[in-house]
Amino acid sequence: MSAKQLGRGFVTALLCAVAWTLLASPSAVQADDQPGEPKISLSAFMRKKLEASGKILEGLCTDDMELVQKGAEDLKKVSQAERFRVSNDVMYRQFNREFDSLTDELIKAAESKNADRVALKWMDTTMSCMDCHRFVRGMRIAEQKKESAK
Ligand code: HEC
Repeated sequence: MSAKQLGRGFVTALLCAVAWTLLASPSAVQADDQPGEPKISLSAFMRKKLEASGKILEGLCTDDMELVQKGAEDLKKVSQAERFRVSNDVMYRQFNREFDSLTDELIKAAESKNADRVALKWMDTTMSCMDCHRFVRGMRIAEQKKESAK
């Protein structure tokens, strides 16, 4: 096995680990809907993101760059729709914008049919999923503390 193949095996293993973490722990970012908040539930947008992510991972695993591109385009659509839904928080919009530009890079990488580049961009994108979730979780903990201090 060449070093390149080994490297690719490693990247794939890592991607699968990331995917597993995402799939296995949705409760980590789950929180009750706040009363009075608008809801076309964010959770529904996220389910769509998860679905699109599945396409991308499948495309990577089967070397089908068209499927990757399709998944990345779906992700972009969802994040743009979501931006109109969540407009009030500056930081959230920032995370959303970063995510959006990563989906652009992912689409470009898939167009160039360079599987290694796609794999790396996909890792950046999934890291961005988790960065935003960590931020959201932090905000919710802060809100709960505020509530209980009242
Ligand atoms: C800009 C912020 C942001 C980004 C980027 C983001 N998410 Fe989320 N995600 C959220 C928020 C907010 C919630 C909590 C929704 C709720 O329960 O109200 C969430 C929840 C989830 C959930 C749990 C949904 C449920 O049914 O409770 C899944 C699954 C999920 N995200 C997947 C993803 C995936 C996959 C990506 C990346 C491809 C991603 N998210 C990127 C903000 C984000």
